[in-house]
Amino acid sequence: MKDLRLDKFLTEMGMGSRSQVKNYISKGRVTVNGEIIKRPEYKLSPEKDIVNLDNERVNYAEYEYYMLNKPAGCVSATEDRRFPTVVSLIEDAARKDLFPVGRLDKDTEGLLLITNDGALSHELLSPKKHVAKTYYARIDGKVTGDDVKAFWEGLDIGEKKITKPAELVILKSDAESEIEVTITEGKYHQIKRMFEKTGKKVIYLKRLSMGSLKLDETLAIGAYRPLTESELQALKEG
Ligand code: URA
Repeated sequence: MKDLRLDKFLTEMGMGSRSQVKNYISKGRVTVNGEIIKRPEYKLSPEKDIVNLDNERVNYAEYEYYMLNKPAGCVSATEDRRFPTVVSLIEDAARKDLFPVGRLDKDTEGLLLITNDGALSHELLSPKKHVAKTYYARIDGKVTGDDVKAFWEGLDIGEKKITKPAELVILKSDAESEIEVTITEGKYHQIKRMFEKTGKKVIYLKRLSMGSLKLDETLAIGAYRPLTESELQALKEG
């Protein structure tokens, strides 16, 4: 890790704006390895040096990765004037530059990865990588074998091309059906639009997995936890 300016380190770790942290530094409230440092441009090694603000350790995290069980009612964004954002739910975050990897609709629940790792996000969202995403849904209408076929063959949902093969598994076929569906794209409202095209309506949607990452079903709706090392490794190897 390259050396980092003290004021940048404190800002990145969410201790305040650049001008606020410069003020803390000039007031002698910040120490590095026990020594008061009053220069904001002081270079430190974030992984080795011990930084304290008001005698409290400021831990360093370059990247953070959280699995969120997204609740309905919050938006997949970093800021919003009307609704809570998925990022605002990650109360333990050290970093202030977290964002959701892709979007789930406001009313969709389930697996959402929240991180500040732009490279990993890019890999997971790149259309070229065809990362599989599996959803559970309840459908208003009777889902049949014809729908399974249509989903596999591709549907015209008004995009330039028909949808890529999607695997539809019927769990319950009735006036209200239950299904699991796996897609390898991420078009806006894709699952809802695919069902609309077959004359049916999604009434509940939850994401179960994204690539190798599976929703931890012990996470209550709205709860989150850091990814484990092996989850992260598997995603990166993806
Ligand atoms: N498809 C949708 O229609 N909505 C989502 O949130 C995700 C996939």
